[in-house]
Amino acid sequence: MNANDTQLGALHAYFQLMNMNGAARIYRAAQELGVHDALRVGAASSAEVAEACGLQEHPVALLLDGLCALGTVTSAAGRYSLAPVADFLSGNYRNLGDEYWDFLPTFLRTGTPLARMDSTDQSEAQYVQQVSALAWMMAPAAEAFAGLLGMGTARKSLRILDVGGGSGIWSLTCARHDAGTTVTVSDWPAIVDIAAGFARRMALSDRFTALPGNYHETDFGTGEFDLAIVANVTHIETPEGNVNLFRRIHDALGPGGEIAIVDVIPAQPEGRLSASLYALGLGLRTESGQVHSAAALRQYLAQAGFGHAVVEPILAPPFTMGAVIASRGE
Ligand SMILES: C[S@@+](CC[C@H](N)C(=O)[O-])C[C@H]1O[C@@H](n2cnc3c(N)ncnc32)[C@H](O)[C@@H]1O
Repeated sequence: MNANDTQLGALHAYFQLMNMNGAARIYRAAQELGVHDALRVGAASSAEVAEACGLQEHPVALLLDGLCALGTVTSAAGRYSLAPVADFLSGNYRNLGDEYWDFLPTFLRTGTPLARMDSTDQSEAQYVQQVSALAWMMAPAAEAFAGLLGMGTARKSLRILDVGGGSGIWSLTCARHDAGTTVTVSDWPAIVDIAAGFARRMALSDRFTALPGNYHETDFGTGEFDLAIVANVTHIETPEGNVNLFRRIHDALGPGGEIAIVDVIPAQPEGRLSASLYALGLGLRTESGQVHSAAALRQYLAQAGFGHAVVEPILAPPFTMGAVIASRGE
């Protein structure tokens, strides 16, 4: 790296940091002062927003332009509207994870996480609030995953078992690409009901089955599936938990069956910051949650009896995801 590259790298880091802080500040000001809420009733001018919130028009106009650049607001003909992302930010994620980020200094001092989302008692209630949002976040990656598998071309007429399937976004997206593919989602009872709703909305109810219960205890049967998807699950399990789960999945697969683990597998430069923040966030809010490396996942798969595993990046937002695909082996 020459001196010019070093300087450009430093400038890039500086502007990125200033922008990230400024973006978070204008987002929080808009939330706290009711600017996003004022637009929930419909499109408005900056003067109307200022009046509704009891603020001054000039700074509100500047703020709204910043929010347009940030993507929470759109503008047309001098009127501002909420962008689709604002719906998402009105729910569970409206505080951008401040509940756990505020705990970071304590976590760094004590090493004790804030909440134990990975405890079996809390898991169902926690995920009821999250899986639909997760489906929204993962939809483009699930499309890319279905493409990576060659659903409808290289892979057809699969009986898919989706373990910890949540909304079923990964398996249902695969089924949407291939009319012969069926989906069985294993998850807590309240969550498989949510997955059934997704299947209905995707017109896939006739190819959807639920296996409600704790996936560590659910009977997956013997040789009944061609593909098991384990998406965003390995990071909430310990190494032993993963090996045990993979062993039971191994038994559930028929000859030639495969497992596809989908999880945060840092490899894509665009996703480097997201992946490291994700790993830190997991440490903050779970007791045993951790991002397992592709090498570690390969090792767990081998311990469970699977053959050689192929690792593929999933080239879609958030650019942190990858798939580890292995066949059952004989
Ligand atoms: C991070 S979410 C991933 C959901 C989905 N696979 C996705 O990627 O959108 C983890 C899922 O595992 C489920 N889960 C966690 N522990 C479980 C357990 N012991 N038994 C059944 N489901 C469990 C949760 O309810 C949740 O739906």
